[in-house]
Amino acid sequence: MTLIRHLMTGLAGAALLATGAIAEDLTIVHGSVGRDQEVLRSQLDKFEAQTGHTVTIVSMPESTTDQFGQYRLWLSAQSTDIDVYRLDVIWAPQLAEHFVDLTEATADIRDQFIPSTLEGQTVDGKLVALPMFIGAPALYYRQDLLEKYGQEVPATWAELTETAALILEGERAEGNSDLQGFVFQGAAYEGLTCNAMEWVASYGGGNFVEPDGSIGINNPQAAEALTLAASWIGTIAPEGVLNYKEEDARGVFQSGNAIFMRNWNYAYALVQGDDSPVKGMVGVTQLPSGGEGMSSAATLGGWELGVSKYSEHQEASIELIKFLTNYENQKERAIVTSRPPTLTAVYNDADVAAEQPFIPLWKPVLDGTLARPSAAAKRKYNEASSLFWTAVHNTLSGNGAAEENLSRLEAELTRLRGPRW
Ligand code: GLC
Repeated sequence: MTLIRHLMTGLAGAALLATGAIAEDLTIVHGSVGRDQEVLRSQLDKFEAQTGHTVTIVSMPESTTDQFGQYRLWLSAQSTDIDVYRLDVIWAPQLAEHFVDLTEATADIRDQFIPSTLEGQTVDGKLVALPMFIGAPALYYRQDLLEKYGQEVPATWAELTETAALILEGERAEGNSDLQGFVFQGAAYEGLTCNAMEWVASYGGGNFVEPDGSIGINNPQAAEALTLAASWIGTIAPEGVLNYKEEDARGVFQSGNAIFMRNWNYAYALVQGDDSPVKGMVGVTQLPSGGEGMSSAATLGGWELGVSKYSEHQEASIELIKFLTNYENQKERAIVTSRPPTLTAVYNDADVAAEQPFIPLWKPVLDGTLARPSAAAKRKYNEASSLFWTAVHNTLSGNGAAEENLSRLEAELTRLRGPRW
């Protein structure tokens, strides 16, 4: 086998298997948080054993914004180095032209997926990527601290602000000086867009670009939401939150140093894991709303697997992404990493319910998520989002009031859109 492989290496990394099939060397590029990469590697090992192909992981930085920049370079250079890309749920409209249409290859499995997950990856009738997992954030809280201070789980952002301040005061008086009230993703990147969309929508302030492409973000509800968020910096949230991404927030919360955290589902398995200092002390609930009569908002997240049009191993790559999204692998991912599956049936799996109750519990939240306006803003989504997160980051940093920054944002978005998106 080794000899055959060596003889064949001239042929685009291919080797002949004993069965007569060609074994290929594939490359998957993948960003990760928590245990994503560890679980991916163990699933790739199984794929290798079953098929004879080999798969190398190219790791990306944690930030989806940094990944996007690098992916765009590879794709516009039509690089043959990467076969499979793990793609953010928002990217299909911007990157569609670089990926293989999966419609035919998935005809036998498509009906197993939650329909909206496939719709989000379909651009002009082309299925750009296969959904690997979805995400809807939660409010993580320290049950033990709420109990100690006789506090309810907050239902509104104002309640969260008050409860955090009250507990902080008590704990700091007892010498717990490292404790923070609320941690979230406040760095200037796509993660802040997700957080701020939730604040704004939960105050009835709409989205930074509406689904029909209109721009109404310069409104009093949005300003109220951002003004409250700005008041957190240096009070219930550390100044450092302005540089936090997902893993920074989790690090603080998991080490016992935050009362509340906004984070994606992956954090659950870790904060409740055997080696977590806060194991057994954590509750999860929906993010707060803006007030009575208003509803909580959760931004839709998630990651997809696409096969590059420039790959020299397209068939084997399609086999790989079908494998990684099959029932068994989604079930394992749900149990080990608390990543919500994209296959309907996994939500009804008794082992998943027993070992990771967060998954069925979160199904209604996942069903009601708020999508980022990537379909509306099309190729300009990334720029539109970056204008939004910049306006929010400025407001949080005390660089201009919310009203001023929203008014400038509206003008910038209108200019970016031009006559149409
Ligand atoms: C998570 C989400 C992704 C989002 C990112 C922002 O990875 O799954 O959709 O863009 O967070 O940081």
